[in-house]
Amino acid sequence: MGFRKIALIEEIPPGRTGYFCLDTGPVVVANVGGEIFALSGTCPHQQNPLEGATLIDDLLDCPWHHFQFDVRTGRNHFPGNVYPKDLPCAQAQLAPLEKYTVEIRDDEIWVDAG
Ligand code: FES
Repeated sequence: MGFRKIALIEEIPPGRTGYFCLDTGPVVVANVGGEIFALSGTCPHQQNPLEGATLIDDLLDCPWHHFQFDVRTGRNHFPGNVYPKDLPCAQAQLAPLEKYTVEIRDDEIWVDAG
C-alpha cells in the first residue's frame, strides 16, 4: 500500500507514543527527542495491543506486562536481556516488533506499514 499519513507531528510530542489501526494492522509511533519511529502495534508476548505504551528513553514499554523494545531496531530489550538464550519456549515471545519506514512531510508523519 505504501506510505500513509498517520498523524500530525504535534499530536505525538517528544517522549510520547501514538497508536493507530491501519487496514494492514496496528502501528505504534514513538517520538524520541523529536525523532519519529514506527513499529508494529501488537506485542509478541501475548498479542496484546501496544496502545498506551510508554517510552523510557528509546525503549518502548508495553503497558500489559512491561516487555520493552528498542524503538530503533524493534528488538526485545526486556526480558530478552535476562532470559537464558537457550530457552526455546521464550523465543516467540521475544520476537522483535516489525519496524516501519517513516517520512516527515511538512508537519505530518507518514508511515510505510506494508
Ligand atoms: S502483552 Fe506486552 S508484555 Fe505482555
